[in-house]
Amino acid sequence: MLTDNHGRNINYLRLAVTDRCNLRCFYCMPEDGLNWLSRKELMSYEEMLKACALMVNMGIQKIRITGGEPFVRKDIMQLLTSISALDGLQELSLTTNGVLTAPYVPELKKIGVRSVNLSLDTLDANRFFTITRRDEFANVMAALEALLHHDIEVKINAVVMDGKNTQDIIPLVEMTRDLPVSVRFIEEMPFNGDGHLYTGLQWDYVRILDEIKTKYPQIQKIDDPAYSTSYNYKVPGHKGTVGVIAAYSRTFCGTCNRIRITPQGELKTCLYDDGGLNIKDLMRAGTSDDNLKLALLNAFSNRAADGWEAEKKRIVHPGIHESMATIGG
Ligand code: GTP
Ligand code: 5AD
Ligand code: SF4
Repeated sequence: MLTDNHGRNINYLRLAVTDRCNLRCFYCMPEDGLNWLSRKELMSYEEMLKACALMVNMGIQKIRITGGEPFVRKDIMQLLTSISALDGLQELSLTTNGVLTAPYVPELKKIGVRSVNLSLDTLDANRFFTITRRDEFANVMAALEALLHHDIEVKINAVVMDGKNTQDIIPLVEMTRDLPVSVRFIEEMPFNGDGHLYTGLQWDYVRILDEIKTKYPQIQKIDDPAYSTSYNYKVPGHKGTVGVIAAYSRTFCGTCNRIRITPQGELKTCLYDDGGLNIKDLMRAGTSDDNLKLALLNAFSNRAADGWEAEKKRIVHPGIHESMATIGG
C-alpha cells in the first residue's frame, strides 16, 4: 500500500488529458480561453499510459480522467481503452462537461467505466449559457440521459455561485426525486484562470446545506463512501442522493487519497500545491522506471498535511493565474 508522510493511503490518480475545453465556465476560465498548451508541452498518450502503468504498479487502484474537457482531445477512447486494460486497476472513471459525451457512452460502458461525474451547474438553458458562455445545454442533457440509459452511475457537479445559480439549488435537489443520480454542490474555488472575481467564499457547505433544508427539512445524512469529498444526504423517498463538497473549506484533507498529473505532466500531491516534479520531462530525459518510482516516492513523502499548508508553500508566479482546467480538477 502506498502511503504518504502523514500516514494517508494514496490509491487514486487524477489524470488531466488536456487543458482545452469547449465551454468557458466563468469560474474556470476567461471568455477567450487560456494560453493553450502546445502539443509538445502536453503529455503524449504513450507517456500517459506509461505513467499510469507505473503508478498502478506502485499501488494506484483508481484513475479518474479529467481536463479541461477529456473528449476534446483527439482519439481519447484509444487512451481510455488502454488504461482500462491495465492489470491491477480497479476503477476507471471520468469527469466531463457532457457536451461531446453522449455518443461515447456505449463505448465507455464496453471498456468497463462504471461511473461518470458530469458538470452541470443549472437546469435552466439560459443560465447555462450565462455561466458557460456556450449554447450546449441540450447536449449535456443528452449525455445525462445516455449515461443513465446505460446504467452508468452519474454524479452531477454543480459549483454554487452567489448571484449566478443559487436559485438552481432546489431544482437540482428536486431532480433526485425521480433520477438515481448524486447531485453534489461544490464550493467555488479561486482557480478561475485569470484571478478575476474571486471575492472570497460566499456559499460554503454549511450555507448550501441550510438552503437545501429550507425546502427539504427532512433531508437525512447517509454514510459517506471511504475517501469521499462530499458529505452525502438523501431526501427520504427520492431515488438519488445529494452531496456538498467543501472544496474551498477543505474539510476532507485528513483522508485525501489522491494525486494529480496535470496536462503537462506535473505531479501535484494536492490540488492547492504548485507541483514541482514533472514526470513527462523526466521520461523525455530517459529516466529509468526505477528512478521515476524513486522520484514519485520522494514526492509522496513530502506531501503537505492539507490544502492550507500546500497553499502556504506555493511559489506564486506573477501573472499566471491557475485554472481548474490546467490543474485537472
Ligand atoms: P470521486 O470521489 O472520484 O467521485 O471524485 P470527486 O468528486 O472528487 O471528483 P470530481 O472530478 O467530480 O470533482 C468534484 C469537485 O471536487 C471539484 O470541484 C473538485 O475540484 C473537487 N475536488 C476534487 N478533488 C479535490 C481535492 O483533492 N481537494 C479539494 N479541495 N477539492 C477537490
Ligand atoms: N471552483 C469549484 N469547482 C470548480 N470546477 C471548475 N472550476 C471550479 C472552481 N473554480 C469544477 C467543475 C468540474 C470539477 C472537476 O471542477 O465544475 O465539475
Ligand atoms: Fe470547461 Fe470544466 Fe472549465 Fe467549464 S469547468 S470551462 S467545462 S474545464
